Amino acid sequence: MLSGAMGCVKASIRLDGSLCHRFILFAIWLSSFPDIMALEIKPTVNHISSTSELAIPPKSGLFEPIEISPAVIPHYPFPGESLPPMYPAFPPTYDPVLTGKCPINFSALSDIMDKTASDCSQPLAAFIGNVICCPQLSSLLHIFQGYYSTSSDKLVLQNVTANYCFSDIISILESRRANSSIPTICSVKSSNLTGGSCPVKDVTTFEKTVNASKLLEACSSVDPLKECCRPICQPAIMEAALKISAGQSLISDENIVGGPNRIDALSDCKGVVYSWLSRKLPLDAANTAFRILSSCKVNKGMGF
Ligand SMILES: *[C@@H]1O[C@H](CO)[C@@H](O)[C@H](O)[C@H]1NC(C)=O
Ligand SMILES: *[C@@H]1O[C@H](CO)[C@@H](O)[C@H](O)[C@H]1NC(C)=O
Ligand SMILES: *[C@@H]1O[C@H](CO)[C@@H](O)[C@H](O)[C@H]1NC(C)=O
Ligand SMILES: *[C@@H]1O[C@H](CO)[C@@H](O)[C@H](O)[C@H]1NC(C)=O
Ligand SMILES: *[C@@H]1O[C@H](CO)[C@@H](O)[C@H](O)[C@H]1NC(C)=O
Repeated sequence: MLSGAMGCVKASIRLDGSLCHRFILFAIWLSSFPDIMALEIKPTVNHISSTSELAIPPKSGLFEPIEISPAVIPHYPFPGESLPPMYPAFPPTYDPVLTGKCPINFSALSDIMDKTASDCSQPLAAFIGNVICCPQLSSLLHIFQGYYSTSSDKLVLQNVTANYCFSDIISILESRRANSSIPTICSVKSSNLTGGSCPVKDVTTFEKTVNASKLLEACSSVDPLKECCRPICQPAIMEAALKISAGQSLISDENIVGGPNRIDALSDCKGVVYSWLSRKLPLDAANTAFRILSSCKVNKGMGF
């Protein structure tokens, strides 16, 4: 699990180590002035925990009687010199502002949203977007789509609701430190939640059209080692998507005239298949499976 969190942990260890190192140097330097050591060490220690004060030259009364100007401290950057480059670039988390028009309780998805935010955390998103962030983000969208309407017959969201929910999802991820450009980085938008031009969007028709037990069996536990070279779930999804997209020509001919082409429908129908799988699989299993499928796709450079 390569994640932003790891980078964050590393960064803070480095920060602590460096501060600690600097502090020791400073303490050694101070100790060459035996008289002031006792007086000054205490406020110095206090300043460590309050990083925002570090940049401000101390002007407390304690320093006044002993005449050391900051200029006398030549080579040891602590405590006066610039600290900003050492800060990890992660802003703190905050409460997201939601539209209030996406009728879903996000708490059940909290863990997977945390994971997504961490995989798409700001400084890392640009570098590892395709490999780590985007597969997790698409997995989240698939799972959200399936979760959204668990109690209804629908496998997709309506356009307007999809807009609100997509916006809420991105706001929540941002509030948990994800890069705000992830929709662009990963080319996803609210229409990814609507099933687009796929002609089948409800559970009843879906289960009449595809061999549901076969699909579920192929995808209920995806083996990370085998799936990429000898795929089992991937072709099952493809087969199901082909079946439901083929319904288009049979069900409504008017959609074809000037309508979306077959490739789009096939791609949109894959989203519907994922949504159906999300309803059938436990959240964790679905997330693992979807990520593996995405990674195989990225590794092989297969389009779609
Ligand atoms: C959402 O669900 C959680 C438990 O799953 C519950 O504690 C919380 O009150 C719910 N929030 C709303 C707004 O219904
Ligand atoms: C977010 O990612 C974009 C594109 O990868 C990058 O240019 C930008 O600097 C990142 N934003 C932050 C705040 O890290
Ligand atoms: C989102 O939709 C676009 C087409 O609108 C498609 O190319 C892309 O693969 C979809 N992404 C996901 C994660 O479903
Ligand atoms: C939803 O949006 C798509 C294009 O994004 C459009 O073709 C379709 O007619 C819209 N559906 C409704 C019900 O507004
Ligand atoms: C569905 O697939 C299973 C296993 O592949 C097969 O045994 C079964 O006959 C299929 N059902 C239908 C209706 O095709």
